[in-house]
Amino acid sequence: MDFSELRKRAKAHGQDHVFAFWDKLGEAERASLAAQAEAVDFALIDRLKKEFLEAGAAAPAAKAKLEPSPVIVTPKDENDRKAYAAAWAEGEKALRAGRVGCFLVAGGQGTRLGLKGPKGCFEIGPVGKRSLFQLHAEKIAALRAQYGAKVPWIVMTSDANDADTRKYFQEKGFFGLGADSVMFCVQENMPAVTPEGKLLLETPASLALAPNGHGGSIKALNDSGALKWLRGMGVDTVFYFQVDNGLNRLCDPAFIGYHLRAGAEMSSKVVRKRDWKEPVGVIGFNNGKLGVIEYSDLPEDMAKATLPDGSLRFWAGSIAIHVLDVGFVERLNKGGFQLPYHKAKKAVPCVGADGQPVKLKAGEKNGVKFETFVFDALPLARTALTMETPREDDFGPVKNAEGEDSPASARAMLTDQYARWLEAAGCKVPRKADGSVDARIELAPATSLFGEGLAKHKDLKIKPGGDVVI
Ligand code: UD1
Repeated sequence: MDFSELRKRAKAHGQDHVFAFWDKLGEAERASLAAQAEAVDFALIDRLKKEFLEAGAAAPAAKAKLEPSPVIVTPKDENDRKAYAAAWAEGEKALRAGRVGCFLVAGGQGTRLGLKGPKGCFEIGPVGKRSLFQLHAEKIAALRAQYGAKVPWIVMTSDANDADTRKYFQEKGFFGLGADSVMFCVQENMPAVTPEGKLLLETPASLALAPNGHGGSIKALNDSGALKWLRGMGVDTVFYFQVDNGLNRLCDPAFIGYHLRAGAEMSSKVVRKRDWKEPVGVIGFNNGKLGVIEYSDLPEDMAKATLPDGSLRFWAGSIAIHVLDVGFVERLNKGGFQLPYHKAKKAVPCVGADGQPVKLKAGEKNGVKFETFVFDALPLARTALTMETPREDDFGPVKNAEGEDSPASARAMLTDQYARWLEAAGCKVPRKADGSVDARIELAPATSLFGEGLAKHKDLKIKPGGDVVI
């Protein structure tokens, strides 16, 4: 688009300040700023401004009527166990038939962990240097070996980490998976704005842009050609997971089986919330429609509400593991992107009217980012299913530098899982007086994927305080 046309368009939406430094920019800077501005959906920004920033915009929780929803709980009796075994068998059948692909969302910025570079490069192995990406990749390799299927892998990145992620995969030789069975797709950006809805400039020559939230994955799957790629291989079922959770039971056959048996378009896994404050979204009915109520949107009195037995009423914490039907994702992409936006106040690096970086006070949130969430697809599914999973088997994310959901807690959970698997196979694992494992243990996914095949290690000698890698 010609520059005067572009400026006119920005002006019509009250956003032509983005060209305030135009006269001082070089050719290349002008070209890149113009390209960024051209990609902005100004009408969308106007709509979001009206919806979220102008007087009268209500908080989402104030508009919602929230109720708990049904969940398939972890087996408690013989009937449950039979249903679980049948679901497991169904999931394995789909895996063997090559109907299942994996989809990792790794476009986030990992700010809470204070990391530079992609979060997936973080070394999570309790003993060795196995990174999150490598752990996920080795699980996929183990699935391929176990089920004799291709199990293709799609990795969603964002502009913030795409080049670094691809470079890492190249350097690691795609972890032996074969570059032709791994596909990258890049999610779109959204511009950050001031609380009044004005676009922020990160530098005089660039907009402050941020990934559009993991809901952008639904569009990215379509626009990148990934859906066609999957269809071409006969894949109709996608296992969706987040980069930060190394404990994740990747392609859990039972979960896939329940999803397929129910004819669901989208399914989600939940754990019992640790306590009312745990920062996970809860699955429930929102004005009668199934969805995830984000932790920041659940009013405190509801988060604290209990049942007569004292347990939490809203206990079903989403661990952001889903199964998606490919036809459903195709449908969501017909007629434009349908997921709603959410507003988040954030500290956004930017320049002021003088073109100099604005110094933010500690904790100051000067900007607003708009994001979409993949779980907002749940109410659009014709059938959706929720399944409980034991936290210790499925959810040990790395989110914070210290304390809960930190590298230390995630490594301890991995060690504990490996120890439980070895103990179940008859191996003696040293434990401390408080029951925690008195060793560091790391099992390669090729050694055991879901805890199977460990009988041959039952005589393994593990010294108290020692390291074991098998
Ligand atoms: C998220 C969920 C929360 C859930 C919890 C479980 C949201 C808003 N909330 O919280 O309901 O209970 O995980 O762990 O997601 N990502 C992208 N692109 C983006 C933003 C994020 O790919 O634009 C990816 C990240 O790389 C990461 C995942 O999405 O893999 C989660 O993002 P994060 O911001 O860490 O979500 P949480 O606040 O931890």
